[in-house]
Amino acid sequence: MPLKKMLLSASLLGLFAVLGTSLVAFTYESTRERIAQNERDTLVHSLSALIPPEHYDNDPVTDSTAVTDAALLGSPLPQQVYRARKNGQPVALALTAIAPDGYSGDINLLIAINLDGSLAGVRITAHRETPGLGDKIEAARSGWVHGFAGRSLRDPLPEKWKVKKDGGVFDQFTGATVTPRAVVKAVRNALGYYQQHRDTLFDSGDATAAQQEAPHGG
Ligand SMILES: Cc1cc2nc3c(=O)[nH]c(=O)nc-3n(C[C@H](O)[C@H](O)[C@H](O)COP(=O)(O)O)c2cc1C
Repeated sequence: MPLKKMLLSASLLGLFAVLGTSLVAFTYESTRERIAQNERDTLVHSLSALIPPEHYDNDPVTDSTAVTDAALLGSPLPQQVYRARKNGQPVALALTAIAPDGYSGDINLLIAINLDGSLAGVRITAHRETPGLGDKIEAARSGWVHGFAGRSLRDPLPEKWKVKKDGGVFDQFTGATVTPRAVVKAVRNALGYYQQHRDTLFDSGDATAAQQEAPHGG
């Protein structure tokens, strides 16, 4: 092959390599942005379903902080706290937490708690529970998760924060006790976390100062 032809082939090959790499990089970047935007939209939607938007005038998504408590929030990784305020005064917050003992592993929760320690509501944000059995924890599948709204550690008392089969007040599902048992325990623990840290969780800035280790129940 004459040198000129070889050089032309090599240049074309190089050009296509550069174009291909650029296309992959561009697709990756725009997909990443779209995924982040979708996640943010889902979060805003869930937050406004749990804490009525007319109750606050700030942006809880940006007024957020990270906290860590493996025992009470179900993970050694930091969890998010989204704070709702009106005229600068605390109204409610929403915590992410994990029920690590679902039938198929972690169940991710968003738990909204009013300033007085009562639950504004709970939503399941991710899980791998069995369709038709454990997935009734999803608001889209059954009304079960709405049973938390208005509850607190005073109603019922902590020892009754169990499914009925274990002597508590929360329904289990027919043939599926493991999943609701895990969620009830995680919500109760999150309320315990709030009770321990409520004085500092609304402090502006990073709430990691609120992370002193305290003795926990399981
Ligand atoms: C294939 C399969 C999938 C199951 N998926 C779930 C599930 O997602 N959630 C659940 O609570 N139980 C599920 N179960 C049932 C549990 O094994 C268990 O029998 C049920 O939760 C009752 O628990 P208990 O004996 O502690 O009351 C599943 C069982 C099988 C065989």
